[in-house]
Amino acid sequence: MIDVRNLSVSYGDLRALDDVSVDIADGEFVTVVGPSGCGKTTLLRTIGGLESPTTGRVRVDGDPPEVAQSDARLGFVFQDHTLLPWKTALENVTFLRRMAGKEPDSEGARDLLATTGLDGFEDARPAELSGGMKQRVAIARAIHLGADVLLMDEPFGELDEITRDEMGVEILRLWRENRKTVVFVTHSVPEAVFLGDRCLVVSGAPAVDGPTSPASGTGAPGRIVAEFDIDLPRPRDESVFGSEAFGRAVAEVRGALHDDA
Ligand SMILES: Nc1ncnc2c1ncn2[C@@H]1O[C@H](COP(=O)(O)OP(=O)(O)OP(=O)(O)O)[C@@H](O)[C@H]1O
Ligand SMILES: [Mg+2]
Repeated sequence: MIDVRNLSVSYGDLRALDDVSVDIADGEFVTVVGPSGCGKTTLLRTIGGLESPTTGRVRVDGDPPEVAQSDARLGFVFQDHTLLPWKTALENVTFLRRMAGKEPDSEGARDLLATTGLDGFEDARPAELSGGMKQRVAIARAIHLGADVLLMDEPFGELDEITRDEMGVEILRLWRENRKTVVFVTHSVPEAVFLGDRCLVVSGAPAVDGPTSPASGTGAPGRIVAEFDIDLPRPRDESVFGSEAFGRAVAEVRGALHDDA
């Protein structure tokens, strides 16, 4: 479904990603964890056709991502929710689907808003919603688009911990029902383990070479340094958090992150 081959991405002199290869199967839920600045967003944006590879390539169902994107086969949830401020929550959810020329389904959009806990806020504008509520509208919008692939960049970043756990369970339910392929970026190791079939650990701290370097990173571009199959049984709900297997998996992924730091 998603084929990333020897992908490197540079911004000018800064190499954000280096030689990343990964295959993601149809219907798979893959999570990506790693420290800030290691290239997670860059990876997601390149899979989505919003950045171009410097070397290497990406294919979505055999096509360049730009093609998949123009066919509305890719849905995004960005770190910042990118809602249209003049439209209501409901209009924000239905807008992309209408733009893509798909059959309108306002009943489905209302259901999704209810599922994400926004019952009664259909007519509210983004300015009237909290950060977490806006983020939930963005999630509903991406699912409502009906894309085969969902690319999610820290979609729960602005949610409190309890809502975050609940949204995790909800995302898994929506994923089961809709059979999407999901690539989900997060800073949270427990979240990555809870959600994923597979967890990719990305590491690196890119820096610009040369005397004018801002010296913010070590100059190591982002790479996939470890990969874990998460064998926890599905369906998963909050009860997983207390299980020994969950604790072990979290410790393993953390270990890989810290080994590399
Ligand atoms: N448009 C851009 N132009 C120049 N440099 C960029 C651009 N986007 C990202 N970078 C740089 O590329 C590197 C990787 O950034 P990226 O946003 O992919 O990291 P990230 O892992 O998503 O970080 P975070 O967890 O903080 O969101 C960083 O060093 C960043 O400064
Ligand atoms: Mg990011």
